[in-house]
Amino acid sequence: MSREWGFAEALVAAMVLTCCAAQDLMRQKGKMNVLFIIADDLRTSLGCYGDPIVKSPNIDQLASKSVVFKNAFAQQALCGPSRTSFLTSRRPDTTRLYDHNSYWRVHAGNYTTLPEYLKMHGYLTMSVGKIFHPGIVSNHTDDYPYSWSIPPFHPSTQKYKNAKVCRGLDGKKHANLVCPVDVEEMPERTLPDIQSTEEAIRLLKSMKSLENPFFLAVGYHKPHIPLKYPKEFLKLYPRDKIPLAPDHKIPLKLPPVAYNPWTDLRIRDDVKALNLSFPYGPIPDDFQVLIRQSYFAAVSYMDTQVGRLLNALDEQGLANNTVVVFTADHGWSLGEHGEWAKYSNFDVVTRVPLMIYAPGMTEAFPPPGQRMFPFINPFTNKVGGLPAGSMRDANVELVSLFPTLCQVLGLPRPPKCPASSFHVDLCTEGQSMAHYLHPDATIWNSELIAYSQYPRPADTPQMNSDLPSLKDIRIMGYSIRSVGYRYTEWVAYNASTFSANLSDIHAGELYFQKTDPGEDNNLYNSIEFAGVVQKLSALLKT
Ligand SMILES: *[C@@H]1O[C@H](CO)[C@@H](O)[C@H](O)[C@H]1NC(C)=O
Ligand SMILES: *[C@@H]1O[C@H](CO)[C@@H](O)[C@H](O)[C@H]1NC(C)=O
Ligand SMILES: *[C@@H]1O[C@H](CO)[C@@H](O)[C@H](O)[C@H]1NC(C)=O
Ligand SMILES: *[C@@H]1O[C@H](CO)[C@@H](O)[C@H](O)[C@H]1NC(C)=O
Ligand SMILES: *[C@@H]1O[C@H](CO)[C@@H](O)[C@H](O)[C@H]1NC(C)=O
Ligand SMILES: *[C@@H]1O[C@H](CO)[C@@H](O)[C@H](O)[C@H]1NC(C)=O
Repeated sequence: MSREWGFAEALVAAMVLTCCAAQDLMRQKGKMNVLFIIADDLRTSLGCYGDPIVKSPNIDQLASKSVVFKNAFAQQALCGPSRTSFLTSRRPDTTRLYDHNSYWRVHAGNYTTLPEYLKMHGYLTMSVGKIFHPGIVSNHTDDYPYSWSIPPFHPSTQKYKNAKVCRGLDGKKHANLVCPVDVEEMPERTLPDIQSTEEAIRLLKSMKSLENPFFLAVGYHKPHIPLKYPKEFLKLYPRDKIPLAPDHKIPLKLPPVAYNPWTDLRIRDDVKALNLSFPYGPIPDDFQVLIRQSYFAAVSYMDTQVGRLLNALDEQGLANNTVVVFTADHGWSLGEHGEWAKYSNFDVVTRVPLMIYAPGMTEAFPPPGQRMFPFINPFTNKVGGLPAGSMRDANVELVSLFPTLCQVLGLPRPPKCPASSFHVDLCTEGQSMAHYLHPDATIWNSELIAYSQYPRPADTPQMNSDLPSLKDIRIMGYSIRSVGYRYTEWVAYNASTFSANLSDIHAGELYFQKTDPGEDNNLYNSIEFAGVVQKLSALLKT
């Protein structure tokens, strides 16, 4: 395996050199800036991923000039663990963060982060909005000053996240899940993602005369719940055009340990009023439609912010020397398998959008004066006509972003981590994906495997099943996603020793992508697949 990779990478390095020698890429490489955009809880419901309903013209425009990873996966479908994992390039078993209660530098190891590494290499690094998970996870400072050159920016209105600002049918204001708002009526007459966009644009404008390259990370809060967004975005989604999830019933062979009971939805006023039974609900169909409609509207609202940001990058003349990465920390269930939110190992929550725009690599350098990212207004533009960009099918992991960016920027890649790496500050548990950025990279759409995991406190759904604290974790679900299947084993886990007992299997799942892309027909216990299960179980143990 490693020999093959060495060969492929050498070949790519050679090809990249020939392809771009004329453009003098190497000279500029050291100077490429990075705009790193992270959406919160965004599944691949985007036009560029083939979604027939969602209107995301600005992200689609970015995709049309990027290499787009169709099968990119987060290592855990929870904000804090996923972000800490991809920012340090270590898996949750190495950051030892499965909840939101520890800071890796003191709890696991003093791992170097991606922005910290770039800062060490002369980059001006800046954080706007939600990049690290806030709170204990990043020592209440977003890991400043280690990761950032200047203090991170947080939109002032994020403190109203759970405030009673959503107008209900009774005319009163509530803390609702579904929350289209009149921005003029909001505290400070704005919303967090609008503020983050303004701050990021302000920073971009000050970057023009900068000697050093910059790394600007912009973390949007939407479409994370509550689904609070300017109400005009509802117009893009007439309610009668919103279908339920195709598989909105709980599958018969779903092991109870695999199910997440979406407790964070239940605590919102509008959901509480539905008197749903715990843990299986279900949510009435008409309310399911409301959630889906507002999730899509929140995506379009976030897309508009991305559009304004990229437009500014372009206007500042930075689109020809800035690498743009767009991704999300994990996905979100919108009723699939009778589930909502994240907190599981299914494709809908582990798969994320991932696209990389690298001028001179994924797209020829724009000729002077040509606009790369003009803002697209979703209300007036006839959307949906953009070419998809270059798609890559290979299964890739967010843990690989760190070495990938290093290679794209021409910086030394962190070495591969040894088997146990708690004492190693700088190493990667991923592998560079930079070769996929080459136009001919389809030849490497090989049999890569993406790993994800999710912890549980018990075999059956509990109030803390979605987000168990470390001390309560008794079971870990390890999941592998390969080209044809997803295979998951839920095994005993000892939280005081951080050890999984792979011989103590509590439940298993096996889904075949071709016949069952929604992962509804669990074949783990089917006699005819016993051989396959045995093989995959052995693979998982390696
Ligand atoms: C952790 O790493 C940072 C940055 O490299 C360094 O400044 C700090 O002293 C280290 N902390 C410990 C406890 O080693
Ligand atoms: C975390 O923050 C506290 C309080 O600001 C500080 O004393 C401590 O040194 C920080 N931890 C690390 C590892 O920098
Ligand atoms: C929920 O329960 C409350 C109190 O028992 C009742 O007043 C209300 O009508 C119920 N709502 C629904 C949607 O069943
Ligand atoms: C990028 O565009 C700006 C403005 O058009 C121009 O001054 C600069 O030389 C260009 N840089 C590259 C690397 O093409
Ligand atoms: C976890 O490991 C510790 C140390 O070996 C042991 O004392 C404890 O009983 C174990 N816990 C469980 C739940 O097996
Ligand atoms: C792991 O689980 C197996 C099967 O239940 C059990 O026999 C074994 O003692 C367990 N190992 C440890 C270290 O707990």
